[in-house]
Amino acid sequence: MITARTAQEIHSWVRRWKSAGQRVAFVPTMGNLHQGHLELCRQAAIKADRVVVSIYVNPLQFGEGEDFEQYPRTLEQDRLRLTRESVSLLFTPTDEVIYPHGKRASTQVVVPELSDILCGSSRPRHFIGVTTVVAKLLNIVQPDVVLLGEKDFQQLYLIRRMVEDLFMSPQVIGVPTVREADGLAMSSRNSYLDAEQRARAPALYRCLRRLRERLQAGERDIAALEQQGREYLTAAGLRPDYISIRKAASLAPLREPDGEELVILAAAYLGETRLIDNLRVMP
Ligand code: PAJ
Repeated sequence: MITARTAQEIHSWVRRWKSAGQRVAFVPTMGNLHQGHLELCRQAAIKADRVVVSIYVNPLQFGEGEDFEQYPRTLEQDRLRLTRESVSLLFTPTDEVIYPHGKRASTQVVVPELSDILCGSSRPRHFIGVTTVVAKLLNIVQPDVVLLGEKDFQQLYLIRRMVEDLFMSPQVIGVPTVREADGLAMSSRNSYLDAEQRARAPALYRCLRRLRERLQAGERDIAALEQQGREYLTAAGLRPDYISIRKAASLAPLREPDGEELVILAAAYLGETRLIDNLRVMP
């Protein structure tokens, strides 16, 4: 596995592979790699001849008072994990590479409206940071396909939209959420949980499953279901940020199911730690 820190190095490797007729897949990450990230790498290796992974803790997507400083940085362990996967190139850019004019003065990529709902309403500007950095990374790597986790459903949705709106060329592939044995979605932020919080955390997924069962049993009142979800989480000792049942294809809210696929999205706090999860449902 090659490690590169500059855009020029990435260009020259990718150009070499593409001119040899090889397909290139890209997996952007912030590191502290777990089985969810590694599953993206494995799917990438199925889709392409060469896999490029980036590790960059993007300062622009963290708000004031969020966990940017605290975010786990485990580069040596990550590198070791990636050497066991079929990864050709690890890209670990510095802030100077990604934001040569400083992160505030840099050109930004905004997907309006959809960036302000759900996670965007409690994390203002977060998704501007995400779409901006992913646009930069896609322009540097110029992959044939980019793989993203369904765990971050709104992020995946926004990146699909950005790629479509800006006529970017990569195919965007969503990979199903990888979970711990008790159902908790794997996340780098799970390491912030103490033992008691960790024991409570699977309630988030249980809540989504319960709402899915109700929808599949024919329950039609979306607002009432969302309210039941909030009550379930509170009773389980979590502090709900939002629970929202939306159309999976558009993220549009709805009053009653209309036969289209839905997605139940939730975010909740355990202490200071904010966990997110989602589940798709065919009512
Ligand atoms: P990060 O949280 O490191 O996640 C990197 C990728 O792994 C994302 O596409 C995310 O959805 C996926 N992922 C995380 N946990 C997963 C799980 N349990 N199962 C499947 N996929 C999972 O998301 C980011 O980084 C950043 O916002 C980034 C896109 C890299 C831009 O900075």
